Amino acid sequence: KKPAGAPDKSLARPVTKVGVVGAGLMASQMALLFARRLHVPVVLTDIDQARVDKGVGYVHSEVDKLLGKKRVSPDEANRLKALVTGSLDKASFADADFVIEAVFEDLAVKQQVFAEVEEHVSPQAILATNTSSLSITDMASKLAHPERVVGFHFFNPVAVMPLVEIVRAEQTDDEALATAFSVGKQLKKSCVLVKDAPSFVVNRLLTRFMGEVVKSIDEGTPFEVADKATESLGLPMSPLILLQLVGSAVALHVSETMHNAFPDRFSVSPNMAKFVAAGKTAVWQWDAQGNQT
Ligand code: CAA
Repeated sequence: KKPAGAPDKSLARPVTKVGVVGAGLMASQMALLFARRLHVPVVLTDIDQARVDKGVGYVHSEVDKLLGKKRVSPDEANRLKALVTGSLDKASFADADFVIEAVFEDLAVKQQVFAEVEEHVSPQAILATNTSSLSITDMASKLAHPERVVGFHFFNPVAVMPLVEIVRAEQTDDEALATAFSVGKQLKKSCVLVKDAPSFVVNRLLTRFMGEVVKSIDEGTPFEVADKATESLGLPMSPLILLQLVGSAVALHVSETMHNAFPDRFSVSPNMAKFVAAGKTAVWQWDAQGNQT
């Protein structure tokens, strides 16, 4: 069944090569998923060789895990490893028809990334973003071909979570949107079309939920109590562990975006801001005074 709002699938363009900008955890997981489901070459880039090598190394280790579980044959494992390569040079995206970015959540950085990618790819190549909260319309606004930009928002862990939020920006054309849905289907994800609104749908709900848990800690509830209290909801993972999985810097950024958009409904935890500024990642390890415990 055609997802609500999806354009006619006959408009979708074929994807024969994928570029991934950023070689962090989500980006590396995406690279593997694209190779595994689309069977096409995938190039990972980042700002330095160490990051690129780490991303490709992660893909190789995940392929070895799949091999260990007999989810892929030895031949397929070798093929997957060969399909995912790293490069520092965005010129290696020259013949890519689908490039997705998963770099730091900062509008100016993402605009810069898209501008650089646009110099190397054909005018039809899709530029997708995995942003979890920023405006896709703003991200596309400075490009020569903003109509090829689409939001393509995965959830962590990318290999496991079934949903992808597909976001149509003001300028996005039907071909780009149809291609995004086609790619999502090939990845075996369920895709929903969401509006280009701050944090789209899932993170808008999640930020409010996790924000209340964090706020109760800010107000003095011990973190173990706040975390334990959510057991009754039957979630696969407690909110504070989920916060660590998402990354406290990303979560803080999302809460700031939401606070700016809806100041009456979303607040930014002062403790969390302090914690992230200090470079801490395990968000549950702080007390009501913002000290690490
Ligand atoms: N990469 C690849 N595979 C992974 C993985 C990862 N990082 N983490 C878990 N898996 C796989 C495991 O290998 C396992 O696969 P098999 O069944 O093939 O062996 C399967 O997932 C289940 O894993 P586990 O048995 O280890 O553990 P679990 O049953 O507790 O599931 C979980 C782990 C899927 C992460 C589950 O705890 C869960 O669903 N947690 C909630 C995650 C969630 O809500 N994510 C959304 C975050 S919000 C976000 O991402 C938005 C944003 O933009 C900020």
